[in-house]
Formats: sequence, structure tokens, C-alpha cells
Amino acid sequence: MAADKTPLKLPKENLGVEDFLPLLGTDYVELYVGNAKQAAHYYRSAWGFQPLAYAGLETGLKDRVSYVLQQDKIKLVLTSPLKSGGDINKHIDAHGDGVKVIALWVDDARQSYIETVNRGAESYMEPRVRKDAEGEVVLSGIHTYGETVHVFVERKNYKGVFMPGFRNWDPLYKPSDLGLKYIDHMVGNVGWNEMDKWCQFYAKVMGFSQLVSFDDKDISTEYTALMSKVMSNGNGRIKFPINEPAEGRKKSQIEEYIEFYNGAGVQHMALATDNIIETVGSLKARGVEFLTVPSSYYEDVLDRVGKIDEDLAPLRELGILIDRDEEGYLLQIFTKPILDRPTMFIEIIQRKGAKSFGKGNFKALFEAIEREQESRGTL
Ligand SMILES: [Fe+2]
Repeated sequence: MAADKTPLKLPKENLGVEDFLPLLGTDYVELYVGNAKQAAHYYRSAWGFQPLAYAGLETGLKDRVSYVLQQDKIKLVLTSPLKSGGDINKHIDAHGDGVKVIALWVDDARQSYIETVNRGAESYMEPRVRKDAEGEVVLSGIHTYGETVHVFVERKNYKGVFMPGFRNWDPLYKPSDLGLKYIDHMVGNVGWNEMDKWCQFYAKVMGFSQLVSFDDKDISTEYTALMSKVMSNGNGRIKFPINEPAEGRKKSQIEEYIEFYNGAGVQHMALATDNIIETVGSLKARGVEFLTVPSSYYEDVLDRVGKIDEDLAPLRELGILIDRDEEGYLLQIFTKPILDRPTMFIEIIQRKGAKSFGKGNFKALFEAIEREQESRGTL
């Protein structure tokens, strides 16, 4: 993977201000899971991820195993402990399966560390170099919300499949990919009154700007509410919405998350596709379960969003939602929680010009989530 040398474009309000943390993209997302071998099977079978790399007992690790999977630009690392009582075990005990690392691809991992730690980030990993015959990777890391961390990955001097310490993983079983292209955004849920604190963290420590803000009037139903702000880096490749619960007559979905995740953490990742009808059709055929909205949603949706390229029938059939902003429209759908705890889920998104996040769908979506909460007895 060659470093992209195109000059970084900053949002207007940052023009003239140096981007002190130029990010080339998301490098990988690492989940700590109870059984990485079986999770790797799930992400291949149901989601079309392709096997890429492996590290474990056979590569000299004693205490953990990691499987690396890839679909176009998206890389997932699934890690499980092999012994009792370690940090990974404690993470899984506290949170269940969940995202530990949102790794960010940079040109200079040492400088990324210095810039962010000097601005107040708590260190997770001092810069370190990992080498093998394919070259070297420099890694460093900082803490963010909850027990989640960002690892900065510098790989411009590396030619191997993933990074030193991993070997190629090339099993015979490789179900076809499903057209998932890249991570569009990753959403964090934080506790009561903590949204602004973490948005300020991304602004001050990482140089992000706020794209949009939603208050409880935007994101509420008759019963539940939340608040959200979207933070983005200078070139817009990294977008992190941050949610906090808001008071409603019943329990916010963010409160349910915080209760079951036992603190702040990643609520969902949004994966982009160029053909959401095909991608979601295949995901459903492979057993992935999505939230559904009442069929009445489709009766007047085109009055709201105007003309779209797609036929409405397959969108209605699959339960795909539609929204429009000044720049275009988007198609999106949300899975039910993909874990036993009602914590993380995945969004599939296809952007047709729109740069927003589906505000017009919030009400229908949150009513769908409330029906699920009701069935779990957590509303
Ligand atoms: Fe989203």
C-alpha cells in the first residue's frame, strides 16, 4: 500500500492553519473477541471479508492470536487471548466483544505521537519499530473514549501483507466479497454530558473540526433521545460522530449501550458500498439481520427525498432507507446488534453526493431500535 502523496485539503475554516496530524485514512480496526477463529469465520462467511494475515502460537506469540481480514480498503483484526487474566481478557470481561483499536494510517507515526501527546493525549504506546524481511512499520498510540485507543501506523517502508509479526493467511475457504469498499465513519457512544468533552479532545488533540451537530430535538421520538456531533479530520477521510444519551420518557439506546458495554465505546462502523441493493441482498442471504421500518416509510419517502436513480421496489423489499441533503442523496441500512450484548452494529451506506448522515431517517430508525429495546426489556 503506497502512501498517498496528494496534498491534504483542509476545510475552509482551517485554511491557513497547518494540519498537524495529516491522516491518510483508517488503517485497520481491531476487535477484542472471545473466539477469534470463529469470529473470523463469521466475517468471511456473512460479510465477505477475505483472509489476509495471521499471528498466533505458530508465529511465536504465546498469549494471543490475531486474524486479519480485508475487503477493499477495510481491514479488520480479530484478537483473542490464549491465556487467562491478561489485558485482553479484562477487556472482554468488561465489554464483551468490541472495538479496541481504531488504527489511523499516517506518514510519520513518531510525529503523530509527539503532536497529539503534546496537546494532551494520554499515551497508549510510545513509538516503536517492528521489522521483518519485508521492511519496517512504525507504531504509536493514544487513548480515546472509554478503553478505546488510536494506533498510528506508518507503513511507507513496508512491503509485506500486513505488518511484521504476521504471516500470510491463505485458507481454501474464501466466500466472495460483497462490495464493501471503505469505512465511511465510526461512531463512539459516550456517557451523560461527555459528548462535548470528547469533541473537544478530537478538536484540540487531533485537530479535527465539527461537521454537524444534532440535539435531542433532531434525534428523539415520543420516548427516547440522544445527542450527536460529527468530528472530521482536515482532509475529511476520517469522520467520528460522538453520541451521548439525552433525557426521554424511556431509556435512550445510548444508555442501553453504555450499560451493556460497561462504558464508552464504538457503537457502529459504517461501511461504504457502490451498490447497496446488491450488497444488502447478499448480506441478508448470508444471514445478517437488519433493522426494519414500517412499510408506511416508503409511501411518502420520494416526496421527501425527490427523484433517485434506483427503483423503489428493491429498496422497500430490503428495508434500505433514503435521505437527501443539499449535495445529493444517500442510501443506508443498519444491522441489529452483531454481538450477544446489545452494543455494536454495522451500517451499510451508499453515498450519491450526500455528505450527511441520514438525519431524515433518525425518527424511523430510532423507533425501530425502540421496538428492539422493548423486546430486550431494556426500554
Ligand atoms: Fe452512521
